[in-house]
Amino acid sequence: MSNAPAATTVIDRYAVMGDPVSHSRSPVIHRLFALQTGQSIQYELLQVAPDKLESAIRQFAKTGGKGLNITLPHKSEVTRLVDDMSERASNAGAVNTLVFQDGEIFGDNTDGVGFLRDLQSNLGLELEDANILVLGAGGATRGIISPLLDTKPRSLMIANRTVSRAKSLAEHFSTQGPVTACRFEDVRKPPVYDLVVNATSAGLTGQTPPYPEDAISEHTICYDLSYAMTATPFTRWAKEHGAARSLMGWGMLVEQAAESFYLWRGVRPDTAAILKQISITA
Ligand code: ATR
Repeated sequence: MSNAPAATTVIDRYAVMGDPVSHSRSPVIHRLFALQTGQSIQYELLQVAPDKLESAIRQFAKTGGKGLNITLPHKSEVTRLVDDMSERASNAGAVNTLVFQDGEIFGDNTDGVGFLRDLQSNLGLELEDANILVLGAGGATRGIISPLLDTKPRSLMIANRTVSRAKSLAEHFSTQGPVTACRFEDVRKPPVYDLVVNATSAGLTGQTPPYPEDAISEHTICYDLSYAMTATPFTRWAKEHGAARSLMGWGMLVEQAAESFYLWRGVRPDTAAILKQISITA
């Protein structure tokens, strides 16, 4: 028998921090990615209150953590804690992925690219020359405007209950493409909208605000950035008003996770297989 000490394998640690966070699917998704790609990682769920965010991140990095996902309500606050961040994170004003390397914290945002991959690769939507309506003007909207404008739509309208917030976002992104703003009640045809995205948080509390009915035609694809096990108030509303398709953001969830996994591990998971595995169809 050899006296040599047993080799110890150090497993790289990752986690998602949020408040609340117990509902997060990220641990399941990342464990499936790891299994699929043969990567040995550990992924935890960490409930962190806003006043503990900075110390929790630094502690995680100090104890050998390799990366984090950051979710609500911390995505915007964490931009102030990074040493450097990507252009897409700075455009979104939000960070959802941290990479710890050489004692530095790098922030990125994979939500926008995840959203576009779901629309373009999974759902096969052609957005060039499309008329797009985004409902809501909060953090979620800010994260998707730049990626949507990159696809060269014909028009992008931001409609919000509080029109001043929509106007200030439209102004902020006006150099990147044809983006305008209005109230829900001012949305009219034309144009016929090809894509209507719900980026309000109304559905989280079960609410269905007076979304603009005129925005929906039998050609319109409706997409809710939120997701649930059963239809969300917005996807129900869209179906009732005759939308061509009415979808929840499960595909975006898996795609943004895959991009984070790629940033950490340099390996891209096969997302279609994972979407199937968790029994959710995009
Ligand atoms: P998030 O980061 O999820 O976007 P947020 O920044 O608080 O959260 O923004 C929430 C968005 O949902 C806002 O556009 C908000 O509209 P207001 O700007 O008028 O507040 C919208 N929202 C939330 N509840 C709503 C409701 N019941 N009816 C209409 N809009 C609602």
